[in-house]
Amino acid sequence: MRKIIIDTDPGQDDALALLLALASPDELDILGIVAVAGNVPLHHTLNNARKIVELSGRTDIKIYAGSDRPLRQTLVTAEHVHGATGLDGPDLPEPTHPVETQHGVDFIIDTLRNVTDVTLVTLGPLTDIAKAFQQAPDIISKIREMVMMLGAWRELGNVTPTAEFNAYVDPEAVDIVLNSGANLTLLPLDATHKVQSTQDRLQVLRDMANRTGPQAAIMLKASEAFDIKKFGWDGAPLHDPCTIAYLLKPELFTGRAVNVSVETQSQLTLGMTVVDWYRATDRWPNANFIHDAEAVGFYDLLFERLRRLP
Ligand code: BDR
Ligand code: CA
Repeated sequence: MRKIIIDTDPGQDDALALLLALASPDELDILGIVAVAGNVPLHHTLNNARKIVELSGRTDIKIYAGSDRPLRQTLVTAEHVHGATGLDGPDLPEPTHPVETQHGVDFIIDTLRNVTDVTLVTLGPLTDIAKAFQQAPDIISKIREMVMMLGAWRELGNVTPTAEFNAYVDPEAVDIVLNSGANLTLLPLDATHKVQSTQDRLQVLRDMANRTGPQAAIMLKASEAFDIKKFGWDGAPLHDPCTIAYLLKPELFTGRAVNVSVETQSQLTLGMTVVDWYRATDRWPNANFIHDAEAVGFYDLLFERLRRLP
């Protein structure tokens, strides 16, 4: 049983990641979900996280509000991918699930100080984690593993020619985390682009006999246009669920210990993750960089778990 905190900016693919985690109570003990500004401003990501928890029927899960802006940059959002609310598509009821009064960053710090062996899962910009590391450096060595949807190497960028969205939104936060010494696992575009929600796979979701499957299909249909147009694929990549799938079935993924650094100075390449694949420098390997994923096994897992939800 893994104890996890999920920091997220839903986003339809974040929503699928949350659903996959919420459907896996035998393996994952979700200590809390923190919403952060990213795909859309914080009030939307928070609302969306609450909606997803209610959709899953897991209203035992606590939700916290995290940071409403990056450390230094002006917030960049992705309504052009996810819609004005960040969760355009399904007609989910306005949530009633409460938001905890404690700030998300304080929740992360308190939890890591008081609970052993916690894994941090990040699906959005790293602002909350960087703030927690800055305010309470003692927590860094207590983290079991940080599993992040972050960055890109051979796949280059999705928001700029060289930067992946989560890294681009708050590169200063990425820099703090990459240099923290924490046990880091990255799920970059190199892995997430392997798991595409093809039209056949969306149909499997649509055909599920529960409420969640068809709603998930509607979500992914609403957000796929951007990637399909850009890449000419038969569906959009399912980025964020790779983190949860990695926790549930690491054998679906292949990684390599490398040094990853992030560009924080250049306006041209801001947020670019620089991967020292061939050890061209003496920078120490600070991350397990997942560069491959097995799509069939990934979707088998996702479908099997989502069928368990209401
Ligand atoms: C990441 O950016 C967001 O738009 C997605 O939710 C995902 O976390 C992919 O680059
Ligand atoms: Ca996300």
